[in-house]
Amino acid sequence: MKALEGVKVLDFTHVQSGPTCTQLLAWFGADVIKVERPGVGDATRKQLIDVPGADSLYFTMLNHNKRSIEINSKDPAGKEVLTKLIETCDVMVENFAPGALDRMGFSWENIQKINPRIILASVKGFGPGKYEDCKVYENVAQCAGGSASTTGFLDGPPLVTGAQIGDSGTGLHLALGIVTALFQREKSGRGQKVLAPMQDGVINLCRVKLRDQQRLEAGPLKEYSQFGEGIPFGEATPRAGNDSGGGQPGRILKCKGWEKDPNAYTYFIIQAAVWEKVCDVIGEPDWKTAEGYAKPNDRLDKLNKIFERIEEWTKTKTKFEVMDTCNPLDIPVGPILSMKEIAEDPGLRESGTIVEVDHPERGKYLTVGCPIKLSDSEVNVTRSPLLGEHTGEILSEVLGYSGDELKRLTESGAFGNVTKEAAE
Ligand code: COA
Repeated sequence: MKALEGVKVLDFTHVQSGPTCTQLLAWFGADVIKVERPGVGDATRKQLIDVPGADSLYFTMLNHNKRSIEINSKDPAGKEVLTKLIETCDVMVENFAPGALDRMGFSWENIQKINPRIILASVKGFGPGKYEDCKVYENVAQCAGGSASTTGFLDGPPLVTGAQIGDSGTGLHLALGIVTALFQREKSGRGQKVLAPMQDGVINLCRVKLRDQQRLEAGPLKEYSQFGEGIPFGEATPRAGNDSGGGQPGRILKCKGWEKDPNAYTYFIIQAAVWEKVCDVIGEPDWKTAEGYAKPNDRLDKLNKIFERIEEWTKTKTKFEVMDTCNPLDIPVGPILSMKEIAEDPGLRESGTIVEVDHPERGKYLTVGCPIKLSDSEVNVTRSPLLGEHTGEILSEVLGYSGDELKRLTESGAFGNVTKEAAE
């Protein structure tokens, strides 16, 4: 038994934000039916190709555990089948450009008329307002959501981050909205519209930076490196390099081998509760009681000096040795792991966070498994579907088309490669 068993999802998503959401729902047990344009499919199938002729990793890694049906949503036969899918499904998820669903004839009003219990969940770049009609990709959301202006170093340009907080982050927000709406439907009996704008999702993840924006009115942000460097603060939350975003100061520090290995670094946090242990580990026991060092607030203007001293110590150890020494003492540190190290980590394989999947076109590849573990709803990651792989099966088994009806549909040309056998 899976948590979302019995929930049917009409997955009208493409690229990254929507597919990450529906992949999560599939992992939790929903039957996710991905609708794709005949002969073309989700654009990511053929983007960033590494194995000629095979679906890209971009596509496969976002579309596990789903079924694929090809439907031309602009053709009358396609619209008929989509209408049946809306009647049948509990949730419809889409992340088209603003207005595209309406142009297909599936406005929220029409969808509700077809199935008042359905939940229509959408990702858009922006919420209502002057930018609501804009098309948006990941980095636009990172920039418009405040992440870029607060990422990077003070003396450099704004930076986008490698974590796909605009796309995958919004997919997560949307998934939460969907299961919440499903929960409410249990009581109300009604579906509802769920909107997750990418800008809003990024702003939500940048909450601490809006906190700092307001704190600026009360004076300099003392935990930022620039305070210790005597650099005045401007009007907006500045870029803070690798400074910790929380109340416990932290930095990225070099470890043994940093000269050659770009990832020989550790994050090091001088949590107040373990300050004395930090002093002992780095060989500065006097700092435990010294004026200007003993109390957390007194240390704030000396953070650069303190972290330079800690780095003298971390440079004598590998990032894993730092972890091995500090962990038992409760000093929070974290090695900077490369993607290669993550791919090869046996613990992550064991936990199902990194999973090997077999695919008929490309063979074995690695993917990121479900990052949320439910003790009573096990996730078994299965490969992404080929384009239209389940068209016949969905038309006949899910929607009940057979005989002449099925023949009429398959001959309409609106369903791509649907097999003749299915028609018969
Ligand atoms: N059959 C027929 N037509 C289909 C179809 C199908 N199965 N699936 C999609 N289409 C059509 C749409 O109806 C639309 O046609 P229209 O413009 O004539 O109305 C067209 O394909 C293009 O859809 P669109 O969403 O505009 O794709 P795009 O490639 O031009 O834009 C995005 C891509 C991501 C920029 C855009 O979809 C968007 O802004 N989405 C919302 C934000 C988002 O999720 N961004 C992150 C993506 S990771």
